[in-house]
Amino acid sequence: MATPWAEAASHEQFFVLLTGANSGVGLGIGQRIIDEFLASRSLSSHLILIPTTRSVSKSRDTVIALRTHLQETASTSHQLRSRAGSDYDPQSAVSRVHILGIQLDLCNLQSIYGAAKQLIHGKVSDPTGVIADVEIPRLDAVLFNAGIGGWSGLDWLGLAKQFFQVGLVQSCTFPAFKKALPAAVLDQRKLLGDKAADLKTQPPELAEVFTANVFGHYILAHELLPLLSRSRPDEPIGRIVWTSTIDASHEHLSFSDFQARHGNPPYESSKRITDLICLTADLPGVQKASAPYFASPAAADKPIKPRFYLTHPGVVCTPLFPLSWFMFWGYYVAMYIARWLGSPWHPVEPYLGACATAWLALADQQTLDHLRADRVKWGTSASRTGHVAPKKSEVDGWGWDGNVTTPKDMEHEDEAGVLHRLAGRKWDAQDLTEEKRAEFENDGRKCWEELERLRTAWEKALGEGDVAKQ
Ligand SMILES: NC(=O)c1ccc[n+]([C@@H]2O[C@H](COP(=O)([O-])OP(=O)(O)OC[C@H]3O[C@@H](n4cnc5c(N)ncnc54)[C@H](OP(=O)(O)O)[C@@H]3O)[C@@H](O)[C@H]2O)c1
Repeated sequence: MATPWAEAASHEQFFVLLTGANSGVGLGIGQRIIDEFLASRSLSSHLILIPTTRSVSKSRDTVIALRTHLQETASTSHQLRSRAGSDYDPQSAVSRVHILGIQLDLCNLQSIYGAAKQLIHGKVSDPTGVIADVEIPRLDAVLFNAGIGGWSGLDWLGLAKQFFQVGLVQSCTFPAFKKALPAAVLDQRKLLGDKAADLKTQPPELAEVFTANVFGHYILAHELLPLLSRSRPDEPIGRIVWTSTIDASHEHLSFSDFQARHGNPPYESSKRITDLICLTADLPGVQKASAPYFASPAAADKPIKPRFYLTHPGVVCTPLFPLSWFMFWGYYVAMYIARWLGSPWHPVEPYLGACATAWLALADQQTLDHLRADRVKWGTSASRTGHVAPKKSEVDGWGWDGNVTTPKDMEHEDEAGVLHRLAGRKWDAQDLTEEKRAEFENDGRKCWEELERLRTAWEKALGEGDVAKQ
């Protein structure tokens, strides 16, 4: 049976995969992608959105929630009405967005390989039954949003201390008082399933937060290279948008404890690795380590590889941090106060926090190339009134874009208000030096080497990935 978008030319079809779409920022990204796609793309273009969740029932609920949002946008948006003219029919907008669903558990490697195979070789279904099972010809943007925090609660003494030392805005942006749970390690027997019995040597253990936040996505992107790579330069480049956090510094990652099992906070450590691999993937000192990852035999016929982009949503109130309902409301109010006091990093609402990711997914390639957007960590910034925009975030050891800037450069900054690069800067941030920049690139190389070591060991153990394709 023909797909509902079969009539549209290939360049008018836009395929997006979004992980962790059933909750918080992920749901906000799905909603925002729908709205911005309809508002910015041609009236004959079609969006095919594939949210991933951890169960069929969550996929069904997510598809229904996104379709409800779509109906609301189509019937209430003045922008859509004025674009289409006086005889605007909301159904014409609704008929341009198609929402499917697949299941993916990033802490279950077999589920990752299964989801990738389904996308490449199989059919993807609509859990509500509205769209018949379809084949996916390519992916234009893959948005890695899913993640876990791995925290147990708050260190109240630490909170009080930080509040008095650096004030409410800084404490609400860079909290040093989150208590991390002891690092959980994934059950090796469950990961290996029926392969366990045949193995002479065990693959390296995997920590839960590290796998959910980085390694699972790392494997998934590699497996999806056939859908993300291109044969010809005139085809739009595939994009992989990784989600980090504003607060991931040099001190959060230790190479002697790469998965943060013994000391460092696992969440921040996993996000520091995310920053390092995204921003260094194609630097001269790293290319040798990252090249085997992009040279998958499954995509050997497609030499143009996807590009990594890096984002974070700012601070958003979601279930990521475990709080009772009473504490959640206190937290929510504190985050709004931080925004009203002038913090640029408090969108607070998931739909607003989704701004930077949706922009990276949909912006035209020329704009991204002109901005060298792949060299920047793009956060969502918010004004006091909740006007959101993508803003460059400072990365420890990389600055705002990998360039060593002087205080004089800052004087000529074009952006003002919350978008000025110094607005919302961490109280103890240090200016970038050539030495730190070199160390960052070197750390990036070490991350790629370790991730590649883990990937090849697990491919061998499971008989999956490049091992299965050779
Ligand atoms: N909220 C913030 O202020 C903030 C700030 C910086 C960065 N972020 C990042 O934004 C992203 C979304 O976080 P959020 O705040 O929206 O949290 P959230 O509401 O808890 O959403 C997390 C999503 O990830 C999914 N997920 C968790 N473990 C998974 C696994 N093993 N496999 C597949 N999916 C899994 C969850 O699915 P289930 O519902 O099945 O658990 C859920 O859909 C995360 O990467 C987070 O680090 C958030």
